Amino acid sequence: MNEKKQAGEYAAGYIKDGMTIGLGTGSTVYYTLAKISELVKQGMTLKGVATSTNTARIAESMHIPLIDLNETEIIDLTIDGADEIDPQFNGIKGGGGALLREKLVANASNKIVWVASHTKLVQKLGKFPLPVEVISFGSEHTGRLLAKNNLVPVLRKKENGKTFYTDSGNVIYDLHLKEIAEPGKFADMLKQLPGVVEHGLFLKHPNVVVTGVNGSVVIREN
Ligand code: A5P
Repeated sequence: MNEKKQAGEYAAGYIKDGMTIGLGTGSTVYYTLAKISELVKQGMTLKGVATSTNTARIAESMHIPLIDLNETEIIDLTIDGADEIDPQFNGIKGGGGALLREKLVANASNKIVWVASHTKLVQKLGKFPLPVEVISFGSEHTGRLLAKNNLVPVLRKKENGKTFYTDSGNVIYDLHLKEIAEPGKFADMLKQLPGVVEHGLFLKHPNVVVTGVNGSVVIREN
């Protein structure tokens, strides 16, 4: 069975009537959105805050009511995907390019549930290239700065070869690091580089990680 579907659908079980829900981005959360749509059809009252224009488009097509992040002080629960998750509940996100809005929504959330296939679980972060969102003004200079720091940046491109721009009009450099020994220190260092808007390291973020594994789900609580 599809592990992403298992995890994504299971996580919708954390939703209660009246909640404001952070809606993550990606192919796993897609299944959560489909379940949320069913809950709405059954009469559950909830509001979603989308972490990307892509998620907003899908949610709208599924008749999930949406509000802007500015319209709520607190998000009760956010359900989001991840690209890598280590045993300390640190993760890499942003494979789909939504890291900035995902981090803002996560930061406003009372509870965070990550959904993933078991293949996303790793002992050490960094095999998955770490996305770094860079302001487009002078982005090539920032790219060279990342390279000078031996961070092996690769400018993200779309399938048609054109530069990928995020929902906020920034570019992404994916850092091919192989392993991130100390994620906390590394995150602090990245934040100090001029031009870096956000990075895909989400440290100790989720309260719960739901993974699909061979026909069942495994729940890890932080
Ligand atoms: C979006 O930018 C990402 O953070 C996704 O949440 C992450 O890439 C997981 O995506 P999948 O569920 O499609 O693997």
